[in-house]
Amino acid sequence: MILEGFMGSGKTTVGIRLSYKMAMTVSDTDKLIEHEQRRTISEIFAEDGEEAFRQMETECLKKLADQKSAQIISLGGGVPVREENRAVLKTLGMVVYLRAKPETIYARIKNDTSRPLLQCTDPLARIHALMAERGAAYEEAADVIIDTDELSMEQVVSKIVLEAKKRGIVS
Ligand code: S3P
Repeated sequence: MILEGFMGSGKTTVGIRLSYKMAMTVSDTDKLIEHEQRRTISEIFAEDGEEAFRQMETECLKKLADQKSAQIISLGGGVPVREENRAVLKTLGMVVYLRAKPETIYARIKNDTSRPLLQCTDPLARIHALMAERGAAYEEAADVIIDTDELSMEQVVSKIVLEAKKRGIVS
């Protein structure tokens, strides 16, 4: 089961809660990259640039696909943008898109300094622009779309469990 969506859409939190609820392991591409690189995402962006980070994401995703051990995967927000990555996602199982409006995202992450793409003078405008660019890719990759704006994390988790049951992924 794969969780995709914009920064601040709740992928990491939902992934951890799902892993408890469904007794499945959870992996997070950002955390795997930071661990392997022994640097934060901000440091990687500052030292090597975004393109190098994107390559690390693709390699991380391919490794996860080869291992087939992770049962829940939370993706960094930019992973589905590359077509190459979307092709890998198709082989990994049910892809859930945690969709949220730009204003919801902004309210959640406005005080966060760990996301280099949003360290700019007008983060809300940046969120709007990036979402406009990425929306189609997220939708194309998704098997299930959940609009999270009005939902608690628990409600999101329950909806995903329901979808997984419908598909026979869990009993
Ligand atoms: C990014 C999302 C971040 C992280 C990096 C770039 C993006 O992950 O991978 O800062 O391009 O949307 P989260 O979605 O977990 O914040």
